[in-house]
Amino acid sequence: MSLIKQLIDKLYNENSLSKEELLILLNDITEEEEKYLAEKSLEIKSKYYGDTVFMRGLIEFTNYCQKNCMYCGIRAANINADRYRLTLDEIMECCIEGDRLGYKTFVLQGGEDPYFDDDKIIEIIKTIKSRFKDTAITLSIGEKSYDSYKKFYEAGADRYLLRHETASKELYEKLHPNMSFENRMRCLKDLKEIGYQVGAGFMVGLPGQSNEDFVEDLIFLKELKPHMIGIGPFISQKDTPLNNEENGTLEKTLVLLSIIRLMLPNVLLPSTTALGSLDTKGREKALKVGANVVMPNLSPTSVREKYALYDGKICTGDEAAHCRNCIEGRIKGAGFSVDMSRGDNINWRRK
Ligand code: 5AD
Ligand code: SF4
Ligand code: FES
Repeated sequence: MSLIKQLIDKLYNENSLSKEELLILLNDITEEEEKYLAEKSLEIKSKYYGDTVFMRGLIEFTNYCQKNCMYCGIRAANINADRYRLTLDEIMECCIEGDRLGYKTFVLQGGEDPYFDDDKIIEIIKTIKSRFKDTAITLSIGEKSYDSYKKFYEAGADRYLLRHETASKELYEKLHPNMSFENRMRCLKDLKEIGYQVGAGFMVGLPGQSNEDFVEDLIFLKELKPHMIGIGPFISQKDTPLNNEENGTLEKTLVLLSIIRLMLPNVLLPSTTALGSLDTKGREKALKVGANVVMPNLSPTSVREKYALYDGKICTGDEAAHCRNCIEGRIKGAGFSVDMSRGDNINWRRK
């Protein structure tokens, strides 16, 4: 048996590898060994979650952002971005449509928009929770203080997505002007301590990113043990400083998804929109290597195109009901079944 297959078996049996072993795996894996890795990761996913895929309804409620992440199409410096904010009523309409379509999780995502101060966010959380009592709320609104995170949790937010983006401090600082790697880490630690189900994650194929950097991501995630891990390819956006850079690849993203599934067997692992944008079958392929969450869009079609983090984003012209059905067809077509329950991480209880 090849050294790589031995490493895959070790990862499968022990859920961990050393830095050196991970680097060999990433550097030397062949196409045939990638298939072997995919079989193992799907087997582990099936053992913990059967053939189910959880659905979350995504509401992109503001594309204003005060940050300037080099890769992102809604960065503050992009004067071509056509900015919008949804009102509380508009957000509620998305939720009502989401509820009608059967969603039991709403993900509220936005740029870091100071207009939505803590009181406004709390009002949104409470309004949604009072109407949809058994529905989970996931926030994805960036870096905040411990106190703000705590207030949102007490208002009823259950989960928080904050990708670490890359665990290499040097690369992080190149891509995030005026942001601090330490503060990002502080946020993730605070979110866990408060009691949220926490989602970290990173992009694949960032300019200058190496296999050594991915090893840092993998080791970091193994230590943090987040409940969810969002991984997607970097895709260049025409109005950013990275507009001429190469996109991340489907293959590398799939290898990293598989490794993550083996390292953290019961983690919630989205099959991302970015992967579906890079390859028409990208989301199905991710499900086949152990991803078990999809996040179809519930945002009003009038604003969809404006939430343009990267070029070529799918679903920008499609109604929520269309995406709901489209994704169900894709999940079934790939051999899995849709699970519309809240889909909490099995290790989580509200504190
Ligand atoms: N390509 C791929 N993903 C991107 N994101 C932001 N910009 C891009 C891009 N150009 C991701 C970041 C962020 C998430 C909401 O979207 O990882 O955390
Ligand atoms: Fe803002 Fe997030 Fe885009 Fe960075 S990635 S510019 S924080 S929306
Ligand atoms: Fe939106 Fe397919 S999921 S159109």
